[in-house]
Amino acid sequence: MELLILSIFTFFFLSRAELPGTWDLLVPNAGISSMHTAVTRFNTVVLLDRTNTGPSRKMLRKGHCRLDPHDAVLKRDCYAHSVLFDLQTNQIRPLMILTDTWCSSGQFLHDGTLLQTGGDLDGFKKIRKFDPCDINGSCDWVELDDVELSEGRWYASNQILPDGSVIIIGGRGANTVEYYPPRNGAVLFPFLADVEDKQMDNLYPYVHLLPNSKLFVFANNKAVLFDHETNKVVKGFPPLDGGPRNYPSAGSSVMLALEGDYSTAVIVICGGAQYGAFIERSTDTPAHGSCGRIVATSPDPIWEMEDMPFGRIMGDMVMLPTGDALVINGAQAGTQGFEMASNPCLYPLLYRPGQPVGLRFMTLNPGTVPRLYHSTANLLPDGRVLVAGSNPHFFYKFEAEFPTELRIEAFSPEYLSPDRANLRPVIEEIPDTVRFGEAFDVFVSVTLPVVGLIEVNFASAPFATHSFSQGQRLVKLTITPSVPDSGNRYKIGCNAPPNGAVAPPGYYMVFAVNQGVPSVARWVHLVA
Ligand SMILES: *[C@@H]1O[C@H](CO)[C@@H](O)[C@H](O)[C@H]1NC(C)=O
Repeated sequence: MELLILSIFTFFFLSRAELPGTWDLLVPNAGISSMHTAVTRFNTVVLLDRTNTGPSRKMLRKGHCRLDPHDAVLKRDCYAHSVLFDLQTNQIRPLMILTDTWCSSGQFLHDGTLLQTGGDLDGFKKIRKFDPCDINGSCDWVELDDVELSEGRWYASNQILPDGSVIIIGGRGANTVEYYPPRNGAVLFPFLADVEDKQMDNLYPYVHLLPNSKLFVFANNKAVLFDHETNKVVKGFPPLDGGPRNYPSAGSSVMLALEGDYSTAVIVICGGAQYGAFIERSTDTPAHGSCGRIVATSPDPIWEMEDMPFGRIMGDMVMLPTGDALVINGAQAGTQGFEMASNPCLYPLLYRPGQPVGLRFMTLNPGTVPRLYHSTANLLPDGRVLVAGSNPHFFYKFEAEFPTELRIEAFSPEYLSPDRANLRPVIEEIPDTVRFGEAFDVFVSVTLPVVGLIEVNFASAPFATHSFSQGQRLVKLTITPSVPDSGNRYKIGCNAPPNGAVAPPGYYMVFAVNQGVPSVARWVHLVA
């Protein structure tokens, strides 16, 4: 018996230590708990919380305060609720956000400006912009005064469109869509009302721009294909088994890498709360671990189901440069919302789309920091994944079972392990700007001789919030086999994404990927 216990323990610790991936603490105190996170082309990261939290752990610049008679805690608030974080130096600079961004939405525009919309109270109809800069710059939030949203948007999802405009979909009590720049005001989207239930479950819809230019919009347990040119639903999909997946049921969703002739798009949706956990305010109802996967471009689409090794709510799905998806953060019980979850799920998972059902998930090295409600995960240009936030309380609360979390960490997938360093390509030359469909060359160097193809993959910089990364996409370019150039340099002939439906205009992190090992990305501006 003792031997058995001993061997179980040995197995547990060994296997824990040997699980792939590593964690790094980047900063112990970001100043704020990030609810919304976006990586800029200057390798800085915009972290954004809500405004009505009272004191954060970062002051605004001396002499700068926000005066708000409606603020729930501080009428004169000299604390930052948004910061800019520098990936190179880990410096943090406070940013000034005036109106409440609670549960808002966002998207980078084609010129690299972050468009940020809605929120609560005075932020309900606000449109804000952040024109990013490096950490020494003075860029800050600008709240637009001459234009506002047609309808208040709280828990909406944004997606940049092929022409560079942005669609803003849904929100609490807003079963409509609208566009930025504004066109025709708010347009009814009855699908969102049809799927609304007692828990809502239609908030923060999962929106994916398919390469045929239609939008795949998933809310509750249903999806439709939406034509943003005519504002019409053009197709319905069968319901996904396993109950609702959006807020507050909190699964997550990605579109898998677009590749080849870009005629196919596959959507994956994983995890979620048991239906009813939100109504009952149950923190211990086990989350389910089912995933649905559907070929959204198929004439006759069906959901293929599979199970994750863990039940999970509030996971974040992050498309890695390789085309695998990381599932990270969240909990194994309860539901989305304040004080509503328990049993943090510390194990990230790697989802390998090319494997057969049953072999797709790999359990990775667990973290130590619970990341529950209001936490985020974003791909970084060096291939790591930045993890920030978690505040399951209405205000900042540092003495609690799951305290307000100010630590920023990075998870390094196994492709960054030292034993693969010889395979890691370095991008030596790449254009700063490419046009749709343009042929261009990329020069990389690699220590070990190259066998097989080196991929060149475009990763967008999404707006991550509430377990869904708005605007996330990975596009694998059509390439020629790499040819030796000189020394350990190789030339790869590439074709830029053919149009804005495959990859909307904007700045992308471009990775060279050699045998599953990505380079550090270079930011490339994709233009029409
Ligand atoms: C910011 O300024 C510091 C100090 O002058 C400098 O070392 C650093 O390289 C600058 N960072 C950028 C991104 O320019």
